[in-house]
Amino acid sequence: MDLTEKLERIASLIEGRLDALLAPEPTASGQARLIEAMRYAALGGGKRLRPFLLIESARLFGVAEEEALNAAAALECVHCYSLVHDDLPCMDDDKMRRGRPTAHIAFGEATAILAGDALLTLAFDILSDPRTHPEPGVRVALIGLLAKAAGVGGMAGGQALDLAAEGQSLGPMEVARMQAMKTGALFNFACDAGAVLGGADARAREALAAYASAFGQAFQLADDLLDAEGDAAAMGKAAAKDAGRGKATLVALLGTDAARARLEALVDDAEAALAPFGARALTLKQAARFIASRRA
Ligand code: IPE
Ligand code: IPE
Ligand code: MG
Ligand code: MG
Ligand code: MG
Repeated sequence: MDLTEKLERIASLIEGRLDALLAPEPTASGQARLIEAMRYAALGGGKRLRPFLLIESARLFGVAEEEALNAAAALECVHCYSLVHDDLPCMDDDKMRRGRPTAHIAFGEATAILAGDALLTLAFDILSDPRTHPEPGVRVALIGLLAKAAGVGGMAGGQALDLAAEGQSLGPMEVARMQAMKTGALFNFACDAGAVLGGADARAREALAAYASAFGQAFQLADDLLDAEGDAAAMGKAAAKDAGRGKATLVALLGTDAARARLEALVDDAEAALAPFGARALTLKQAARFIASRRA
């Protein structure tokens, strides 16, 4: 099976689990609309890369897919929430996401904000469920790690820095820090959660953390290059927006050629970090290569 097939297979497993976790309940109509918006934001699209990394990291330590699926779905809930809020008029003000109108265009801002809130909290509901892992200690560890990854020191804090940096001139180190928080933190959680589910030792966790860090930087750099050079139809979201909004990106700082060279170097770093796992880490290596060449 090549990487694209592997990605598609895991994406469909995640879609099925999210569909079950977001099953519409017979409720009052206001709530029914909220659930509809949550389903709209979470189902029917997305590369499901974070769940993929979580499942493949867990696999390194002998964890079966089924045993990592709930944690992976919880992570995807946080990611989908982050996209709904990122697209709001008060943030990036985007109208297309995953090839369709953004949640606030489809449902209105208030419902979109609430759908984001409810997806974020659903993630912790899922992680606290004994079906996610039989040991309470593992569940608490995952909850703590995801809270940190999503919060002020992670994704939300990074988004705050991203917005504050619009029109400002940040240096490369500051841009890297902002991106490590807004994007890297959830990729770090993906790999670390796989290690935690598999009872990995500290050395293995560190090796995976180095991989995740390079992967996250590469991922956002590829996203920024796609914004500058990519095709909106293929991506299912607007292109050529970052420059106009004065977003602080490495593409803006370095230019596209130097940014692409840095992207290739980051992919090499990600691969090198996996050396301790030998051939078992082939899929994770391929995933790092994939993000540098992706068109969507
Ligand atoms: C988009 O993430 C947001 C960024 C961190 C750049 P993805 O490119 O993973 O979005 P989906 O889930 O595939 O739509
Ligand atoms: C988003 O970065 C990072 C998040 C935490 C959601 P972008 O704003 O560049 O993501 P896109 O390009 O809208 O997907
Ligand atoms: Mg943004
Ligand atoms: Mg955006
Ligand atoms: Mg972008």
